[in-house]
Amino acid sequence: MADDKEKIQEETQKMLVKWKSKRGALIMALHEIQGAFGYVPWAAMEVTSRELDIPMARIYSVLTFYNYFKLKAPGKVVISICDGTACHIKGAPAVINAFRKELGVSEGQTTEDGLFYTQIVRCLGCCGLAPVVVVNGKTYGKVAGVDVPKIVAEWREKMQSEEQGV
Ligand code: FES
Repeated sequence: MADDKEKIQEETQKMLVKWKSKRGALIMALHEIQGAFGYVPWAAMEVTSRELDIPMARIYSVLTFYNYFKLKAPGKVVISICDGTACHIKGAPAVINAFRKELGVSEGQTTEDGLFYTQIVRCLGCCGLAPVVVVNGKTYGKVAGVDVPKIVAEWREKMQSEEQGV
């Protein structure tokens, strides 16, 4: 899982660039982090603390104050489907439906095996790639409904090989 931590740190660092010079940006930044990962990972909190120069204790208290924020991954694989304006126009509703069909759950739910969790988010900041889906921090651009079974199969396989220590 070490590479996951590095990936989270890397992605968070990229997200924080635009928040660095803005006052009172913490909540917006945490929103964006949760949008990308489905929750706010500890590694992302550390990077946020360093980059925005805010003590960890303050970040932690903000996260625990608002019910909205999650500190634990709701599923092993968190799928964030963007339905912001650009993605919506370019076909996000079809992508959302394809995930519902493929996984048998609606957004905000975890599959019975605890593997997949899906959520709808508003603008992941890369509208040029619309429609966008982010899976555990990995970005998929120009996604169509037909791509969804492939994405799900890719992550199912990845999780199986991780479990088997391959
Ligand atoms: S609207 Fe989807 S990335 Fe901006």
